[in-house]
Amino acid sequence: MTESFQLVEVLKESLSGSDFCPPMAPLIIEVTPKERNTITNISDILSQAYGSYEDPKYISKLHLYAFQLLPERIAKILSNFGTDFSRSQYGAIVFRGLIDVDQEALGPTPPSWQEADYNKLNKYGFIASLLHGAVPSKPVQYYAQRKGGGLMHAIIPDKKMEQTQTGAGSKTDLFVHTEDAFLFNQADFISLLYLRNEENVPSSLYSVRSHGEVNEVMKKMFNPIYKCPKDANFNINETTDEIITSVLYGNEKFPFIRFDAAEQIYNDQANQTPEAFKNLTDFWNDAKKLIYNSFIPDSGDLIFVNNHICAHGRSAFDAGIKKVDGKIIKCERRQMLRMMSKTSLINIRDVTHTDDPYLIMEEHYGKLFNENQQKENT
Ligand SMILES: [Fe+2]
Repeated sequence: MTESFQLVEVLKESLSGSDFCPPMAPLIIEVTPKERNTITNISDILSQAYGSYEDPKYISKLHLYAFQLLPERIAKILSNFGTDFSRSQYGAIVFRGLIDVDQEALGPTPPSWQEADYNKLNKYGFIASLLHGAVPSKPVQYYAQRKGGGLMHAIIPDKKMEQTQTGAGSKTDLFVHTEDAFLFNQADFISLLYLRNEENVPSSLYSVRSHGEVNEVMKKMFNPIYKCPKDANFNINETTDEIITSVLYGNEKFPFIRFDAAEQIYNDQANQTPEAFKNLTDFWNDAKKLIYNSFIPDSGDLIFVNNHICAHGRSAFDAGIKKVDGKIIKCERRQMLRMMSKTSLINIRDVTHTDDPYLIMEEHYGKLFNENQQKENT
């Protein structure tokens, strides 16, 4: 066999994809000190100019600012992330050392998200929103989560909620889930910015791309036969769980995913049919082997997630306690900031508030909250 013939054979094999390895871990980007400085300066300038990242005048110019002001390398990575749904795209990027967090200025972690001081968090809102802006994607809020509660949510372990499968929980593993799997108009992109994680809690990620091309188990997940109850953030009195949908959708070889292990498999209220339950369990048995659990976020790290490709969760932990040299000592409790975004406000207009196209009023799979009634109650 001649050398050139061998080369052609090698090329053919690589083009056929037979030696393709599915992505098993997120892309990790080490942010340089220069990039970090630029980002800090931008947030200072924008804070002075607009006061709040919620200012509609700021949000309306978000994409312009993202491409003008963010370090070029970071803007390019995010712009590419917004359109890469390929077999090799894991669906999550870790930006290590994106910002410096002044722990003293941040002060003690409040007891729950309800007591978070957003004046202290304002500059982080500008930074997170710019990253979404570079995708480009628009920060939104969900009535289903904290009745809106602003474009960025402080995620803080809350003693009263410690056993729950919510961001405020801590004592149990938070099973991997795509955000708001009970909505048709769930977030497209999510950012998780860690202000502190002294307890060294690993973040879990699971990408549907880690399975490789769709197999027989996955094919069944395209059938619209699965239920997903609303999550533990709700007081569920009524049963609105009769709506069924698929877990996988989009491209038939390299699909998107809407999945919540805790709500769809482990919650008895899901009331799946035997066929749906069997398929979900088979799928989960494969999926859980693919969970990436080896990243422990540090203060200033941000995870940026495509919510249609990659699910997220975290390990159980004791809030406010860390181990140093084998000894257990007290520490400040974990604190994280979450922002969610949609790439098109036009496509979700049928579920957004009449007076606020950034506020999504979907309650459960296409069913809406009554906006007039909700206004009276709040
Ligand atoms: Fe979540």
